[in-house]
Amino acid sequence: MPHSTTSSITVHRVPVPEGSAIDFGAELRGADLENVCAADFEIIRQALYEHQVILFKNQQSLSPKAQYNLTNLFDPPATGYGHGKTLDAKRSVLHPDLKTIPHQPQVQVIGNGPVAEFEGLKDITLKHPHHKTFHKHAISEEDDRENTRFYRWHIDAALYDLEPPYVTSLMAVKVPKTQYMTLRYDDESNDKLQVPRGSTAFVSSYKMYDLLSEADKEFARTTSVQYSPHPYIWISPAKSRSNGLGMESDGLELDYSVLPPIDESKIKVLPMCWKNPVTGHLALQVHPSAVQKLIRDDGTVIDDLKEVREIVYRMQRPGIAPELVYAIDWEEGDLAIFNNHGVLHTVTGSFLPEEVRIFRQCNMAASTPVVGPDA
Ligand SMILES: [Fe+2]
Repeated sequence: MPHSTTSSITVHRVPVPEGSAIDFGAELRGADLENVCAADFEIIRQALYEHQVILFKNQQSLSPKAQYNLTNLFDPPATGYGHGKTLDAKRSVLHPDLKTIPHQPQVQVIGNGPVAEFEGLKDITLKHPHHKTFHKHAISEEDDRENTRFYRWHIDAALYDLEPPYVTSLMAVKVPKTQYMTLRYDDESNDKLQVPRGSTAFVSSYKMYDLLSEADKEFARTTSVQYSPHPYIWISPAKSRSNGLGMESDGLELDYSVLPPIDESKIKVLPMCWKNPVTGHLALQVHPSAVQKLIRDDGTVIDDLKEVREIVYRMQRPGIAPELVYAIDWEEGDLAIFNNHGVLHTVTGSFLPEEVRIFRQCNMAASTPVVGPDA
């Protein structure tokens, strides 16, 4: 990193839509992301952990290598992609969504439509994830162009063997002209939200924690989550709630006997609360689709899957209220970096097969374990 004691980067809160209560998200201006000096990175890192989602505009020229280098600054010893090689598993619910850039394997291409050539990938067809492949109940065909759902609220993490990446970067390379869609929760509420087509939606897991009752905060601080081994294969036959916040419990999860070999030492038990390394705030940070058991500090184990999911759902649902969702209106050249230990995020929207959209995503499995509430 070149040495410099001053930085020209400035931090600006993102404009908040009327009626919104979001308290995170910032745009950083004046950055030269090909030449980030120590003083620049200090500002970038501070902004990331204070604002959770940071956005740089007009980064069209940033190469996949430079995107990797920038993402890697947050955790220099971490060099391998966040999901390792697990995406190769054809049965994983993640498999159709990501294609690896051959010369920069920590960077994945996601998007929609036919692409003749992109970064060494030839004649690929990208497919924007559609909720009908994951949700138990889908929006009807006739309503589908104007209406959408949160596809799957998640943390970017393998949740087996590998540690959750600190940050993920997302670069909007090609974005079809967007119109707003109506995002329907289709749950016990009548909640709806207007979102740009193909928006990535974020919520703050710090807000999610702050909204809990004192008793639930205490529960969250003293409980760990055990994730299933090979979680994305385990849930592959199961279906999601209509608001994308976890699974329906119909007993469809795969039996361990048909999962790839399980190494008990690689099963992840993570705290329910993850501490922000800069502010010290606690995030209620749980991947709702992959949870399997809750383990209390006193040794009690809650292993009834339906009950586990109900507890997590009750705690997380207030945090995805419409006024708390930051839905990015992507423009070509936008580079977002988000605190993967402090937000949940999800794809939204749907595209016609011929609508071409290209994004580059980069994250690395962290070099250290998650920091819990007692650290
Ligand atoms: Fe993601």
